[in-house]
Amino acid sequence: MEEEKKRGSLLLAVVVLALMTLMMVASATKITVGGNQGWSPNVNYTLWAQDKHFYYDDWLFFVYDRNQQNVLEVNKTDYESCNSDHPLHNYTTGAGRDVVHLNVTRDYYFISGKGFCYSGMKLGIHVEKIPPPPALEANSSSATISPPVAAPAALAVAAFIAGFF
Ligand SMILES: *[C@@H]1O[C@H](CO)[C@@H](O)[C@H](O)[C@H]1NC(C)=O
Ligand SMILES: *[C@@H]1O[C@H](CO)[C@@H](O)[C@H](O)[C@H]1NC(C)=O
Ligand SMILES: *[C@@H]1O[C@H](CO)[C@@H](O)[C@H](O)[C@H]1NC(C)=O
Ligand SMILES: *[C@@H]1O[C@H](CO)[C@@H](O)[C@H](O)[C@H]1NC(C)=O
Ligand SMILES: *[C@@H]1O[C@H](CO)[C@@H](O)[C@H](O)[C@H]1NC(C)=O
Repeated sequence: MEEEKKRGSLLLAVVVLALMTLMMVASATKITVGGNQGWSPNVNYTLWAQDKHFYYDDWLFFVYDRNQQNVLEVNKTDYESCNSDHPLHNYTTGAGRDVVHLNVTRDYYFISGKGFCYSGMKLGIHVEKIPPPPALEANSSSATISPPVAAPAALAVAAFIAGFF
């Protein structure tokens, strides 16, 4: 009997962990800068970014030729003038695949050094607060389950399943 209880709570823990992971993935988005073109010269990143939203906790994914370009965060002045002499942050790891965690709601400016900023490799974005889930304020009769409702419901289901073991 004790053994069965242990197994039940272990299973419950696993299910809860899996659910939490799923929810985290759902809220943070990984955005590949430039889409299919990646981080490369002759892409207008102002145009690329203009119809997109960047939210707190999202990740930017820079994909580029590691022998040519790099990823530097600079301030607004240096973004405008393509000055890479005093970056605020150097995200270049050397693999040509770099991630930036947008962990503050503010403006971010990225450029590639080595002169590539002049051929368009500059990206300025505004990171917004995560909007509240619409279901919280709406009186909608729609059946969509928002995360705050889904979480306890899923836990109840998990507990129910675990009860069988
Ligand atoms: C950006 O940094 C440069 C050099 O450190 C400085 O001269 C400039 O005033 C800064 N610009 C802003 C907007 O902070
Ligand atoms: C950025 O960091 C990379 C890897 O550590 C280094 O090779 C590169 O020289 C740095 N670039 C700048 C502009 O600081
Ligand atoms: C955000 O991430 C940067 C880069 O990893 C780090 O240096 C900084 O301390 C972080 N800021 C906060 C508020 O967590
Ligand atoms: C990108 O496109 C915008 C809008 O057409 C334009 O104002 C801007 O100068 C372009 N940027 C570059 C680096 O060509
Ligand atoms: C929700 O419905 C109630 C009662 O019909 C109403 O008083 C309230 O203002 C509505 N709230 C919103 C956010 O629409």
